[in-house]
Amino acid sequence: MAYPDHWMSELLAKNDIVSVVSTYVDLKPKGRRLWGLCPVHGEKTASFSVSPDRQLYYCFGCHIGGSVIQFVMDVEHLTFPEAVEFLANRAGMAMPEEVNDAAMQRARAKRERLAEACKLAARFYMETLLGENGAAGRAYLKKRGITSGSVKRFGIGYAPSEWEALKRHLGEKGFSPEELAEAGLLVKNEQSGRTYDAYRGRLIFPIIAASGRVIGFGARVLNNEEKPKYINTGDTPLYNKRNNLYGLNLQKNGKLSDLVMVEGYTDVIGLFEAGVTNAVASLGTALTQQQARLLKRYVNNVYIAYDGDTAGQNATIRGLDILMAEGLNVRVIVFPGGQDPDEFVRQSGKEAFDTLKEEALSLNAFKLEAMSRNYSMDRENEREQFAMEACRFIATLTPVERERYYQQLSKKTGYSLETLRAQGDGSRPFERREAVSPGGQKSVPARKREVTPESERIRAENALLYHMMQSPAAARLAAAQGLEKQFASAGLNAFAKALLGVYDRGDTPNLPLLLSGMQKEDAERVSAALRDEATCADPEKAAKDCLCRIERCDLSEQIEEIKRQLTEPALPAAQRAELLRDMQTLNLRMRGLS
Ligand code: UTP
Ligand code: MN
Repeated sequence: MAYPDHWMSELLAKNDIVSVVSTYVDLKPKGRRLWGLCPVHGEKTASFSVSPDRQLYYCFGCHIGGSVIQFVMDVEHLTFPEAVEFLANRAGMAMPEEVNDAAMQRARAKRERLAEACKLAARFYMETLLGENGAAGRAYLKKRGITSGSVKRFGIGYAPSEWEALKRHLGEKGFSPEELAEAGLLVKNEQSGRTYDAYRGRLIFPIIAASGRVIGFGARVLNNEEKPKYINTGDTPLYNKRNNLYGLNLQKNGKLSDLVMVEGYTDVIGLFEAGVTNAVASLGTALTQQQARLLKRYVNNVYIAYDGDTAGQNATIRGLDILMAEGLNVRVIVFPGGQDPDEFVRQSGKEAFDTLKEEALSLNAFKLEAMSRNYSMDRENEREQFAMEACRFIATLTPVERERYYQQLSKKTGYSLETLRAQGDGSRPFERREAVSPGGQKSVPARKREVTPESERIRAENALLYHMMQSPAAARLAAAQGLEKQFASAGLNAFAKALLGVYDRGDTPNLPLLLSGMQKEDAERVSAALRDEATCADPEKAAKDCLCRIERCDLSEQIEEIKRQLTEPALPAAQRAELLRDMQTLNLRMRGLS
């Protein structure tokens, strides 16, 4: 969403970063910055810093950074527009005209109203569970070992076996049947037009957003014969299962190293009961990108702990790819004997769970493992087929991974390493060879550039960014060589362009303002680039050095790619010759740089 610049400037001016951060972190001045304990990654010595001059923050420990807006996103776990609204409220500012139109006002008022209904409904269900009509629900919880502590923590309730108990209760509080139906609390019989309670005679698990608002419900039968086992709130103006995770509201403390992702409500609850308090559930869907992004706001490491049955395992594989695509580190916990996490942890305890977690498989190992389950290693031809399928998969991995998995495969199937390698190399898809065009232009690698914070290219990019922010001359120098070549991230390219625009108008850059439209990762990079507070006598010369370093990285990446292709055994002579010519050109350019 775009906000008018003047409104955004005012928002930033009225929310001084030091005063906002100070409400979360104890800050002490040292040098040109203020320092404190990072509110996000949890630490004992201060590596979190705020620069009052620049109105930016940066943590040297976990590398979060940006303006006051990104800070609020980090500590409050909010999206960008939510953080903007948070700060607007804090400063007593109205949202800008464009955003604040009547239709949106009405939609917001509607959501508030539905949220109120859901909150009261959750309270009603819990009171029912604990009251005279709740004996069946309480007995069920007791049987499953769900304690009263969990009832409180998760807000568990019981819906009475009546058609209109909730309808009546909330009707008395002024809610119309239409409103309640819109919140998913009542259903409407299309023929008669009558509305009645959506959940009857079921245990109730409220779904609570990170903000603490009750937005939906899962309702479980008490006896396993009745179908469906769970009824869940469908799409409402408040709730969409694709955008939410069950239990995320309990993850607030910011000291998380990882989250455990399970399938069901009762898995989250069972894990909590056993002392595993970092579990969330995907609400019965295959993981979505929105859920992955939600997780990314909390942690970088996710353990998938789906049911041991086939459905669970298939869901796992899909989930893994989505999480990986969002840049999360993913590992898979595999439960023995088709148990789900709840069953496992209740039977075997937290220590056993922690052990399984330590032994969790990587994505690739898990995929191979799942593949192998389709074959019996005792049968010659199945073993052979498995080996061939596995080789096709391994051939798509990086050389180091290939090494590892060929070895594992060799152990498992009894085929020799040479045989498996030859099999895998022969099956590698031909397209991968197209990677370098003649002359080695940058059109090349289709795969994403690895953005590891420590790589030489990132260091060079950051240094270049720094000089560009310090000096218009340095920025113009980089622009003259083509900005889009310098930064791997499109967002940073856009930032650099905006910076030049500011210089061209003869202004000094307002960094927080420039950061306000940017992706979190890019804003962090800008903050990181400024972290050293170094001064530089000759920014132009320094920028030139950075440009060289970046080009060197690109060249050597392309050379490595050619080398890799040259190792392919089935390479036709003509292509080999062409690759060698390309390599020579690249090497010459490389030499020209030093
Ligand atoms: P499971 O069938 O594995 O249930 O479904 P569970 O969570 O282990 O529940 P218990 O232990 O039998 O009580 C996993 C998740 O899939 C969704 C729910 O979110 C459930 O928690 N689900 C399952 C439904 O939405 N509807 C259903 O009918 C069944
Ligand atoms: Mn279960």
